[in-house]
Amino acid sequence: MSNVEVTVPADHLMGVYNRAPLAFDRGRGVRLYTDDGVEYLDCMAGIATCGLGHAHPRLVEAVKRQAEKLWHVSNVFRIKEQEALAKRLTDASFADVAFFTNSGAESLECALKTARKYHSANGQPERIDVIGFDGSFHGRTYATINAAGNPSYVEGFGPRLPGYVQVKFGDHEALKAAIAAPTTAAVLLEPVQGEGGARAVPDHCLRDLRALCTEHGVLLILDEVQCGLGRTGQLFAHEWAGEAQPDIMALAKALGNGFPVGVCLATAEAAKGMTTGAHGSTYGGNPFAMAVALEAFDELSSPEMLAHVRDVAGYFTQQLEGLKSRFPDIIVDIRGRGLLIGVKLIPNNRSFMGWARDEKLLIAGGGDNCVRLLPPLVITQDEAREAIEKFERACLRARADLAQAAAS
Ligand SMILES: Cc1ncc(COP(=O)(O)O)c(C=O)c1O
Repeated sequence: MSNVEVTVPADHLMGVYNRAPLAFDRGRGVRLYTDDGVEYLDCMAGIATCGLGHAHPRLVEAVKRQAEKLWHVSNVFRIKEQEALAKRLTDASFADVAFFTNSGAESLECALKTARKYHSANGQPERIDVIGFDGSFHGRTYATINAAGNPSYVEGFGPRLPGYVQVKFGDHEALKAAIAAPTTAAVLLEPVQGEGGARAVPDHCLRDLRALCTEHGVLLILDEVQCGLGRTGQLFAHEWAGEAQPDIMALAKALGNGFPVGVCLATAEAAKGMTTGAHGSTYGGNPFAMAVALEAFDELSSPEMLAHVRDVAGYFTQQLEGLKSRFPDIIVDIRGRGLLIGVKLIPNNRSFMGWARDEKLLIAGGGDNCVRLLPPLVITQDEAREAIEKFERACLRARADLAQAAAS
């Protein structure tokens, strides 16, 4: 028995989150409101999830319609809404087949299993190693924490799983050697790292990686849970690179705009091991989730939406670069792609998020002392201007704090 004193938390919740002292009652568009009506500008969107903002009328209508019709049937039956969304997603991507899940981590779990089963079906069961990168994040299941290899997420959870190889982001030689190893099954990466601090993989690197994987019979798995579905201004982030299509791709977050749904997409070739009984999920792809996701996908994939993201993202980047030159004591770097924007700071990013909250602006944290701006994709230019004004006031707060620390 340990002698650490155990207390029951007042909220009766496992203490795994570092929560801000703030709760919301309702939302509309890019705004969130507390119980007592205080308004916040949401440039976090549930960590890149509510791409269409809060209470989007089309989605509210879809939920109401489906709630009165059919919530759930087992995957032992055909589900026509699931077939419709699989058709939409595969028509719009490299993929031939889809497996629906309830979260990003589950989409990755399916991706990892699909890759290993492919090699097993090919008579090469020894190919089990998945190459991942430092700074990546793929979710919190046992497999996905091992795939990402972040020491603070694996610590205390028993042995590291075999079959996960870590390469330093940008270390091309190490990556080439790892891909050429005879036990390698797949490479797993985020085209734009989210949690890692909005680090984008250069387009030519993604193209070279694709070619290298093909050359060595290794599958390319892209994690577009955060950067996919319009966030970068293309439907899928890898499209910026041209010839860099994956064999398998994980999506979630914006797919349901907050309704829990994800998907693992794959080519028919990559999915050839995923035969009857190889995988499953009770909720994955149920009619309720599919009805919402079908409407959300229609909105997110429209050319007008993608053009809008590129426009507003251009405005954000230009304005943030301006702030960087006016606040060189606060801002070190602007990075990311589209509306997955990272701002690397000198002051502590957690403190900065608090100062932004004081200005009624919600932003997310990120690795490498970044804050991330991940607004709903529907944010207008006026709302973006308001976000920048609030961000600037947070910079002034940060500067005052630095001056006070220097004086004391
Ligand atoms: C890139 C990426 N992959 C996977 C996940 C895991 O998704 P979920 O929390 O829905 O399991 C996340 C969540 O933030 C993510 O950003």
